[in-house]
Amino acid sequence: MHIPDIIIAVDGYSSTGKSSFAKMIAREFGFLYLDSGALYRGVTLFAIEKGMISADGKIDVPALEAALPSLDIHFGESETGSLTYMGDRCIEKDIRTLAVSGKVSPVAALPQVREYVDRRLRFLGRRKRVVLDGRDIGTTVFPDAELKIFMTADVGVRAMRRMTEMRSKGEDVRYEDVLHNLQERDYIDSHRKASPLAMAEDAVVLDNSRMTPEDQMVWLRDIMRKKFNLTDED
Ligand code: DC
Repeated sequence: MHIPDIIIAVDGYSSTGKSSFAKMIAREFGFLYLDSGALYRGVTLFAIEKGMISADGKIDVPALEAALPSLDIHFGESETGSLTYMGDRCIEKDIRTLAVSGKVSPVAALPQVREYVDRRLRFLGRRKRVVLDGRDIGTTVFPDAELKIFMTADVGVRAMRRMTEMRSKGEDVRYEDVLHNLQERDYIDSHRKASPLAMAEDAVVLDNSRMTPEDQMVWLRDIMRKKFNLTDED
């Protein structure tokens, strides 16, 4: 399939497998993959480490906003895919802990933080042939994206997947805590004022509760064929 120069936006709920799917698409089509959640997680890690979030969860918003212009969070490539960096330091592992997951939604709700992330994403996506995953890519960051996918799955299935992933990385987490964190994030992400998680009108829904990654690629190729009039000889 010859893939046109497009932007693919993959939005949806936490732990629906957006990043795995987006990475598969990037590999298959030779696109650049941009993980917008990693940028929000990077900002959150920075705020935690600088003591800008108090024990009761209060964020020192003026201090964080003042630090944003000089905050260098970016992506680098490795054999295993895209990695997130803060300056020279690889923060890929640090940003996936429950400590960061538990604080990221309120940080991502701050308009200045969203502007910071949006600016970086638009710059990185300016040449097209990118696939991005997030919550508001198709609605806010790239409203003109040629293909918008909205992913959803049963919350119990999502919690189980996230727990398995975290345990495989050595984090000792309980199912109930992961489920609670997911439900809380779903709520905050969908109810915040600044670009809440919402489905773009022209998005196609993918419910992968009972789909394998391979099923998803079959689904995608079918959508691509129809939407862009592609044939397998293209
Ligand atoms: O996809 P993720 O779980 O790594 O995202 C982490 C958090 O960042 C998530 O709770 C919501 C927020 N986020 C967002 O608000 N907008 C995006 N485009 C991506 C993530």
